[in-house]
Amino acid sequence: MSNAFALAIGVGTKNSKGEWLEVFYSKPLLNPADSLIEAAKSALGYEGGNQAIEADGGDLSAFADALAELDATQSGLARACIESEQPVVITVLATDVQSSSTPEVYLKLHLLSHRLVKPHGVNLAGMFGLLPNVAWTNQGAIDLAELPAAQLDARLNGTLLSVNSVDKFPRMTDYVVPAGVRIADTSRVRLGAYVGEGTTIMHEGFVNFNAGTEGVSMVEGRISAGVVVGNGSDLGGGCSTMGTLSGGGNIIISVGENCLLGANAGIGIPLGDRCTVEAGLYVTAGTKILVLDDQKNVVETVKGRDLAGKSDLLFRRDSISGAVQCVTNKSAIQLNEELHAHN
Ligand SMILES: CC(C)(COP(=O)(O)OP(=O)(O)OC[C@H]1O[C@@H](n2cnc3c(N)ncnc32)[C@H](O)[C@@H]1OP(=O)(O)O)[C@@H](O)C(=O)NCCC(=O)NCCS
Repeated sequence: MSNAFALAIGVGTKNSKGEWLEVFYSKPLLNPADSLIEAAKSALGYEGGNQAIEADGGDLSAFADALAELDATQSGLARACIESEQPVVITVLATDVQSSSTPEVYLKLHLLSHRLVKPHGVNLAGMFGLLPNVAWTNQGAIDLAELPAAQLDARLNGTLLSVNSVDKFPRMTDYVVPAGVRIADTSRVRLGAYVGEGTTIMHEGFVNFNAGTEGVSMVEGRISAGVVVGNGSDLGGGCSTMGTLSGGGNIIISVGENCLLGANAGIGIPLGDRCTVEAGLYVTAGTKILVLDDQKNVVETVKGRDLAGKSDLLFRRDSISGAVQCVTNKSAIQLNEELHAHN
């Protein structure tokens, strides 16, 4: 049984001032064995608490030796880092408290994308202040202040420095490609996304950090920060799930199992299981909705938030009256197995 929260050996990039821009952890550990924590104490001088310890070749050699009998994989990783030309850091998190350094935030984002913790399963408070805005280029992460000189250098050397994005988050797949996924456009999935086994993300699909899918899903719409999509649910082309980061209210949006958000639909309420939202309809917490019975009689008028999390509902906008209606969803979607097959 382990008392510590996480441990990982990372290789990162710093700017010319010695500040971290990013860290890559190839094999992060959740709840590492106490013996590994002891090894960090004896070989690296880890003193407890949450620490990002920079390690030189000597430290790494000592750590690799200390780990040799305990964990061959981590020992081999430490040994492989001895010759690194990039800075190496061993990040130990005794507890999941608010991060205090860039390497700590990167470790938490890795835990999510490695599926070691679920969205909302790790403390990300204060992360934005610790994540620098970075130019993500074909030659790695570059500090924005150093970018013009790097661009000129590349030209003078007859090469091109291509900036793929300018963001606080890199694309997930440059750090980890979880098993059993298809991602048509990797720039659409940020590090910290949780992409379940069996998920396909098409070009229009997007997955933010601390958000994602639990299992088999076809994602052609946007999964905002904090949103979790249940197994067997599909997000149609261009659909939207409301995030809570900027004025989206404080209800955490989720999609249950075997739901379908139609093309260009959107939700500002969590859905239960086997729900469908008609293509083009945006259901917000305040949307007034007529609830119909099987004979299409109006039973009551409610707000979207009153139906939050309820199962077996079909939301549609009556194309004659314009009123938003909710009826029992009789034909909960059957996922197209061929569409979702990965082999
Ligand atoms: C809402 C939706 C699920 C309804 O589909 P459905 O359950 O198959 O229903 P049907 O289209 O067979 O329609 C059933 C009846 O409801 C009526 N109806 C359907 N939508 C209606 C609407 N918005 N307003 C009024 N009547 C409507 C139909 O005209 C039909 O009437 P009828 O009984 O008189 O023949 C479907 O229109 C939809 O939006 N699907 C999303 C698909 C999608 O976007 N997938 C993702 C692709 S990327």
